[in-house]
Amino acid sequence: MKIFITGGAGYIGSHTCVELLNAGYEVVVYDNLSNSSPQALQRVEKITGKSVQFIQGDIRDETVTTEAIQGCDGVIHFAGLKAVGESVAKPLDYYENNVYGTLCLLRAMQSNNIKTIVFSSSATVYGDPEYLPFDEIHPLRTTNPYGQTKLVIEEILRDLYKSDTSWKIMILRYFNPVGAHESGLIGEDPQGLPNNLMPFVAQVAIGRRESLNVFGDDYDTHDGTGVRDYIHVMDLASGHLKALEALTFPQCTAINLGSGIGYSVLDLVNAFIKATDKPIPFIITPRREGDIAEFYADPTLAKNLLGWSAQRNLDQMCRDTWNFQSQNPQGYV
Ligand code: NAD
Ligand code: UFG
Repeated sequence: MKIFITGGAGYIGSHTCVELLNAGYEVVVYDNLSNSSPQALQRVEKITGKSVQFIQGDIRDETVTTEAIQGCDGVIHFAGLKAVGESVAKPLDYYENNVYGTLCLLRAMQSNNIKTIVFSSSATVYGDPEYLPFDEIHPLRTTNPYGQTKLVIEEILRDLYKSDTSWKIMILRYFNPVGAHESGLIGEDPQGLPNNLMPFVAQVAIGRRESLNVFGDDYDTHDGTGVRDYIHVMDLASGHLKALEALTFPQCTAINLGSGIGYSVLDLVNAFIKATDKPIPFIITPRREGDIAEFYADPTLAKNLLGWSAQRNLDQMCRDTWNFQSQNPQGYV
């Protein structure tokens, strides 16, 4: 089986390539490298001892995508922009890249009669919790353009399936991906100031940042700081493999990929210090606009439909993050 992986040079995509190659799939990575390095793919080859076919291209270019995708049996669609704050400042870029890009990809798939797709959605589609944990029937509404693009794409996929019930569609709603491959060869390498907690903590540990800003300690949570469901990127990668394997029959299914456990910012900082023996100086600052106090997944459906559950704990997430960061102090150079 040959799988077309859009955004496959990125953080989650590169780890998923490892999982797929180890399981015997062939992969074709299609990425415009706007937020990634070709080095990640060389390292995927080093880890697996298998080759990755790489095509530098943009999902918004339907003609090129239609040609590149020829001969593939299915698609895992990671490509897109993902920074919430940036999406508020540049909504048109987000709608163009994520929504228009996905439309072009789906048309390229249709032209080649490829009807199997696993799509990267996000827990952000649930918005402010009406109840917790989030299960897949929680109402959907988002609070920022990035989340809106994910929700619109989900709706496009549901409408597509209604129009042609031979499609095999899996929508995966990720919670908070962190960690790195255990080799330390691939990991998360954000450009500029990290938006997310774990890469920021890792950059403080390596000395690239002086201290962490903890965004608010007055939330209604066990220690006042924000609570999230962190999920090891290799668990996420295995979730994609399970999702592909579950697409043996037509469907359009949305599934949470999370651990079901909520940890606060301070829980994560303390776990990182314990796992790495590195000090993490931090200061409490005002809340970040748009942040939700607490959310975590109900992962039951993933267990029932995919036979998947998260295997790696917070300690391992911290150790593997540090392993990548300490071996690659400046990321992929
Ligand atoms: P990433 O930025 O590391 O990877 C995305 C990849 O897509 C990059 O390699 C980038 O170069 C590529 N890309 C972007 N626009 C493209 C285009 N128009 N054509 C071709 N390639 C393009 O991000 P990631 O963390 O690996 O996220 C992967 C997917 O998962 C994204 O769709 C993201 O929205 C989603 N997601 C991520 C998180 C998270 O916290 N990391 C959480 C939920 C969902
Ligand atoms: N936080 C800090 N300091 C930082 C960064 C984050 O205190 O420097 C706090 C946040 O306030 C929040 C928690 O750490 O309480 C996690 O924040 P992240 O930015 O790491 O993650 P978010 O939950 O805000 O969002 C991430 C992705 C979204 C995605 C969501 C669910 O950025 O795109 O997970 O998948 F939608």
